[in-house]
Amino acid sequence: MHGTLDAPSLSPDPDEAELIAARPFLSRSALDGLLLEGVPLAAIADALGTPTYVYSAGTIRARYAAFTEALAEAGVAAHVHYAVKANDHLAVLRLLGGLGAGADVVSGGELARALVAGIPPERIVFSGVGKRAEELARALEAGIGQINVESAEELFELSEIASGLGLTAKVALRVNPDIDARTHAKITTGLAQNKFGIPASDIPALYARAAAMPGIAPVGLALHIGSQILSLAPFRESFAVLGALGRALRAEGLPLSRLDCGGGLGVSYRNEPAPTPAGLAGALAGAFRGLEVELLLEPGRWLLAPAGLLLASVVRIKPGSERPFVVLDAGMNDLIRPALYEAWHGIVPLAPAAGPVGPVDIVGPICESADTFATARPMAGLAPGARVAILDAGAYGRVMGSAYNARPCAAEAMVEGERWAVIRPRPPLAALWEDERVPDWL
Ligand code: LLP
Repeated sequence: MHGTLDAPSLSPDPDEAELIAARPFLSRSALDGLLLEGVPLAAIADALGTPTYVYSAGTIRARYAAFTEALAEAGVAAHVHYAVKANDHLAVLRLLGGLGAGADVVSGGELARALVAGIPPERIVFSGVGKRAEELARALEAGIGQINVESAEELFELSEIASGLGLTAKVALRVNPDIDARTHAKITTGLAQNKFGIPASDIPALYARAAAMPGIAPVGLALHIGSQILSLAPFRESFAVLGALGRALRAEGLPLSRLDCGGGLGVSYRNEPAPTPAGLAGALAGAFRGLEVELLLEPGRWLLAPAGLLLASVVRIKPGSERPFVVLDAGMNDLIRPALYEAWHGIVPLAPAAGPVGPVDIVGPICESADTFATARPMAGLAPGARVAILDAGAYGRVMGSAYNARPCAAEAMVEGERWAVIRPRPPLAALWEDERVPDWL
């Protein structure tokens, strides 16, 4: 199973009409071409140029509502802590924070972003294997709601830091349940050989020690087994481990009020079947029935991926030995998922396609063969100057971007209804080197 992410099955690629039909906020008008909500994407491409990320605020709202309603309908008392790493733009954080979401952060930088966006510190959870002492201190001083501790070493260090500051850290111990999330190996985090969490067998003794440590208030357990998980079975298996540990701690008389069940719910990039929030809610209800705890969830991709796309233009069509290359002005520096995880993203032209459909390789301008968005993709009507939308790029898109090949990062815009706004202009070329210093002995 650990081969390709969003694994293309043997079924044919969905065509343009199927891709649009499966995405409620995308539509095609004869006059305006592809629309995101009520905004013609060509208007944004005309104004900002390409490559440009565009996010749909309406989609983020609708997905947050669908996620939280599924939990409520299953009678699951769970709070959503949006995984900031999926898309850390302040506008996204402001939107989700305003809807009531908390945040899951993994660095001092993400913590600062969440606070700047107005997410209350008590609604922020801090995860990660490599939190530095100054990041832990800053989180405690900010009044953070929970720190998910990933090792005994981190727990001892946190106890010293918190007691030194005269503060108490609310701590969840992150369990490594040794369960295979059946996703791409690079985003699997719950196997024993992965760097994440504490082995389940070590939890009871460490939790008891935590309860007696100065500056530490253990509040519960946490778990996150991977990302882009496409079946409920790994969730059920890992929640069973978490529930059993929780019950064992309670039986010892230890305080336990929260279980943080992480993120990982996958989305359908191609047309692969994907679990739903209702399915996840059912798994939660089944696993933790009778154990009166507050549940936390840390979804990132599910809320954001389908809410964003990357606009790009065709630079030229170059004949290839097997198929033509369609060379875009967006590259792997803008969207690295295909290069890093062999991820499949739908690609749809903004203007209705014309002409015969034939397989093409869709590539970027970067000097590596990894810079490929799609191989043997059936496409019609792409000519130099044509513009396309690379779909489902709202999560792990711009946040993983770089300026490799001295290419300024993509611009960003947000739409809602019929209005749109620039939320980050394309940086000028000179910004690429403005913070560089050349030693005066050169
Ligand atoms: N919580 C923790 C502790 C995490 O490490 C992650 C993601 C999440 C929550 C959110 O997971 P999600 O719901 O988004 O699956 N760059 C990769 C994905 C890396 C995910 C890392 N951790 C990609 O583009 O597929």
